[in-house]
Amino acid sequence: MSVVVTGATGHLGRLVVESLLERGYPAADITATGRSTDKLADLAERGVTVRHADFEDRASLREAFEGADAVLLVSGSELGKRVEQHRNAIEAAKEAGVGHLVYTSAPRASDTTLILAPEHKATEEILAASGLSHTILRNGWYNENFEQVLEQAREHGALIGSAGEGRTASAARRDLAEAAAVVLTDPAPHAGAVYELSGDTAWTREELAGYVSELLGREIVYRDLSHEEHEAVLTGAGLDAGTAGFVVGLDRNTRDGELSATSGTLTKLIGRPTTPVAETLRLLA
Ligand SMILES: NC(=O)c1ccc[n+]([C@@H]2O[C@H](COP(=O)([O-])OP(=O)(O)OC[C@H]3O[C@@H](n4cnc5c(N)ncnc54)[C@H](OP(=O)(O)O)[C@@H]3O)[C@@H](O)[C@H]2O)c1
Repeated sequence: MSVVVTGATGHLGRLVVESLLERGYPAADITATGRSTDKLADLAERGVTVRHADFEDRASLREAFEGADAVLLVSGSELGKRVEQHRNAIEAAKEAGVGHLVYTSAPRASDTTLILAPEHKATEEILAASGLSHTILRNGWYNENFEQVLEQAREHGALIGSAGEGRTASAARRDLAEAAAVVLTDPAPHAGAVYELSGDTAWTREELAGYVSELLGREIVYRDLSHEEHEAVLTGAGLDAGTAGFVVGLDRNTRDGELSATSGTLTKLIGRPTTPVAETLRLLA
């Protein structure tokens, strides 16, 4: 059985390939794809097939997907362009006769106010209409998204935000990658499934400040601001208006509980507890 991983030049896709290899999946049955294949040279040396594939170039996708039993479509990183890019990948998978397609989506993509959800919702709809056998992995927030709080804490002794008491059920990228590997290696039982994948526990920003305090050995507080104050602080620190609005939008979503659900599905798929955010931060510190 052959598996193709898109976005293998990025963090998640790379970890999926690593996870497949760790699970004993034969390197010869794995194809790692991306735009800059030089980033995949070490995988090629380990026997993984490496192919150039660009979401903007359907022919490159079709060629990379040819003969695959399963393809992992890791959602792209170019916001605003992703629906057409993902459509290209889904169409290419159909044309190449792919057996099963796995897509990395966002929490409750079909009925959330999460600002990043619309492109995922549209992709899920394209996938549903495609007739392809598929699985949707609605990946929750990565623990690694909070790496920058370490720098904030070291510099200012405080974390700021406007997420209030909102909780985040984050998981390590490695956990989510392992779940993808589980589905890719044996897709049949997961056909048609929509999995909400999140960490086992959901934490508040105040709790996050507590974890960081322990890690750095000094007291770090969380200062909760109004969304307006938060945006003003971010633009005052040099962030452009679009980025500041995006960051505040995500905190608004967090305050509203859009990232807080703990379904337990990720743990069930990977057969172990998820990695606490404090543990990921410890590794990153
Ligand atoms: N759940 C979360 O917390 C969270 C956070 C951030 C992002 N995400 C989503 O999850 C995805 C994977 O996360 P990540 O951390 O692995 O992101 P990442 O490290 O930025 O990787 C993104 C991958 O998408 C590839 N890509 C982007 N545009 C492409 C195109 N036109 N054609 C082919 N490949 C393209 C990139 O290839 P290149 O190396 O060629 O750029 C890269 O391999 C992201 O792309 C984003 O959709 C989720």
